[in-house]
Amino acid sequence: MTKSQALMERVETGTQKTTMKALVFHGPGRRAWEDKPRPTIKDATDAIVRIKTSTICGTDLHILKGDLPAVTDGRVLGHEGVGVVENVGKAVSNFHSGDEVVISCVTACGKCEFCRKGMYSHCKDGGWILGYLIDGTQAEYVRIPHADTSLYALPPGADAEAYTMLSDILPTGFECGVLNGQVKPGDTVAIVGAGPIGLAALLTAQLYSPAEIVAIDLDANRLDVARSFGATSVVDSSDGKAIERVMALTGGKGVDVAIEAVGVPASFDICQSILAPGGRLANVGVHGKPVELHLEKLWDRNITLTTRLVDTITTPMLFKLVQSGRLAPQKLVTHRFALADVMKAYDTFGDAAKQHALKVVLKND
Ligand SMILES: NC(=O)c1ccc[n+]([C@@H]2O[C@H](COP(=O)([O-])OP(=O)(O)OC[C@H]3O[C@@H](n4cnc5c(N)ncnc54)[C@H](O)[C@@H]3O)[C@@H](O)[C@H]2O)c1
Ligand SMILES: [Zn+2]
Ligand SMILES: [Zn+2]
Repeated sequence: MTKSQALMERVETGTQKTTMKALVFHGPGRRAWEDKPRPTIKDATDAIVRIKTSTICGTDLHILKGDLPAVTDGRVLGHEGVGVVENVGKAVSNFHSGDEVVISCVTACGKCEFCRKGMYSHCKDGGWILGYLIDGTQAEYVRIPHADTSLYALPPGADAEAYTMLSDILPTGFECGVLNGQVKPGDTVAIVGAGPIGLAALLTAQLYSPAEIVAIDLDANRLDVARSFGATSVVDSSDGKAIERVMALTGGKGVDVAIEAVGVPASFDICQSILAPGGRLANVGVHGKPVELHLEKLWDRNITLTTRLVDTITTPMLFKLVQSGRLAPQKLVTHRFALADVMKAYDTFGDAAKQHALKVVLKND
């Protein structure tokens, strides 16, 4: 970029400030709240969004564990948030400076082969890149590529915290868990992992009237929350006996749908061990290690195993359910921090059992 182009961009943004604060990844176990260059428009389809609310995902914890080696030193983390459009590239027509928007965790060009199939997660010029392959939303500003098809207008007067849950966790729990698991009326559903994603699956599974929903976790507080969100039974798996308990609860039959919402071999193993004949195992968790698939036990049980990166194809539908009050995702928010206190927010979310934490909202007022 030439000097005059850089100056033009600054004039376009209407501001002379070129730095911002952001939560930056510096390799496994290392993160810092530090100065970064403020993002600017790179492509005509970009928008720059000033963050109002963001949050931390279980996936960010996987990144910090080193489970996702594609994340490089210096990356700004975060793929969820609500904000205000600061400025837009020349080709953006749906959004304008000042618009309040929900940022989708998945970037979609809307035009490529995968986008045309509704598989935005594998967009040839997008997919899940925010806070992963490009800088993300745990920052004062973020650049959103393909803004027209990757941002959603925040309904007037809407609760920004509730809609922050629409960036990722609601579509993820719903698409990867409930839709892929084909939850049907009368089904028995087990959800392994009662973190925000498992709880989002729990809330949205109830749209299909399953008969039983068993929530399984190691964290007694999260199990209490699961019960209050509609789980018909809960299983504390900290003694390693979850499989026996679920089999006893189902009269030895097993479950129709097992949703894996943790991302470790132990939780996958619970799921594959509790499936009834014809059962569906819907994996949601991000896995950093291989799992053992027991085909010697499963080959004749007519089961289905699915994996999915969230497509966010159901986001417009989920917006309507939140607007109507049919879904109330704000009840997942347990903690609020100023964005500048994001380091503390990570400590809280990373120690969720002791802190009784679910979603921690970061506010940049
Ligand atoms: N597929 C996708 O597109 C997608 C999108 C977003 C998040 N994810 C993944 O979904 C998973 C859940 O995300 P989250 O934000 O709820 O994470 P989280 O870390 O807050 O929750 C995970 C829960 O699993 C429980 N747990 C850990 N080990 C367990 C075990 N052996 N048995 C039962 N429970 C156990 C923990 O106590 C915790 O409550 C993560 O792996 C995340 O990376 C996937
Ligand atoms: Zn996420
Ligand atoms: Zn695309």
